Amino acid sequence: MAEAALRGDYTRAGADYAVEQDWAAYTDAEHALYRRLFERQAKLVPHYACPEWQAAIAGLEGVSEKIPHFGRLSEKLRRATGWEIVPVPGLIPDEAFFTHLANRRFPVTVWLRKPEEFDYIVEPDVFHDFFGHVPLLFDRTYADHLYEYGKGGLKAMRLDAVKMLARLYWYTIEFGLTRTKAGIRAYGAGLLSSGGELAYCVDDPRPQRRPFDLERIMRTEYRIDRYQDTYFVIDSFEHLMRETAPDFTPIYARLKSLPSFRPDEK
Ligand code: PHE
Ligand code: FE
Repeated sequence: MAEAALRGDYTRAGADYAVEQDWAAYTDAEHALYRRLFERQAKLVPHYACPEWQAAIAGLEGVSEKIPHFGRLSEKLRRATGWEIVPVPGLIPDEAFFTHLANRRFPVTVWLRKPEEFDYIVEPDVFHDFFGHVPLLFDRTYADHLYEYGKGGLKAMRLDAVKMLARLYWYTIEFGLTRTKAGIRAYGAGLLSSGGELAYCVDDPRPQRRPFDLERIMRTEYRIDRYQDTYFVIDSFEHLMRETAPDFTPIYARLKSLPSFRPDEK
């Protein structure tokens, strides 16, 4: 990762890339922008977000008004699932990221996007990281899964298979869909925090919605600059847990020599 090209201030970051969240330094304009982002998504989530996300956000007070205080969130999270939030300057290298997850720490970016990035932002900011990722950490199964993913990431580094595992993260944690009694709903953070893609991923006839398929996912390329062409649908977080529990070592070895699928390949 080339930190130089990223927006955050990495000069104060520790070896694990943690920084302070200087909550008092957020301006009124930043809190107001955050509130506008929250309000837009709040109208969509009743219809498009998975029930686990909705249950969790209902239990978090004050988070619709101002950029959340990570320390207070961590206290609640610790009690619920043993996780905590680590403030970071932005994207961090794989090893630091996986190590945090493997210790039940979720890195959350401290800075907020600019007003002109209301609809679209290239790097994850505090709105994406909080709104998309944090509520689901209150769900026991999801939280356990992400912990296993972190350990699996450190293992994938040793096996030179991070690219395959990163595709799994992309098509689940960032852009995953789940089946519910009411229909298909989003649990991926990139969807939950998106003004446009949240409705698109559920309602639009164009994208593929394929049943979760571990090997297909590991072989499928993805695009970071447009709505996804293909989504993968889980039945539940238990289902995701079960499908990702096997040892990936032989799977990585087998898939390494196989061609990949284009994002929109049928
Ligand atoms: N089962 C995976 C492995 O052996 C670890 C993992 C678990 C990866 C859950 C992702 C999600 O490497
Ligand atoms: Fe994310």
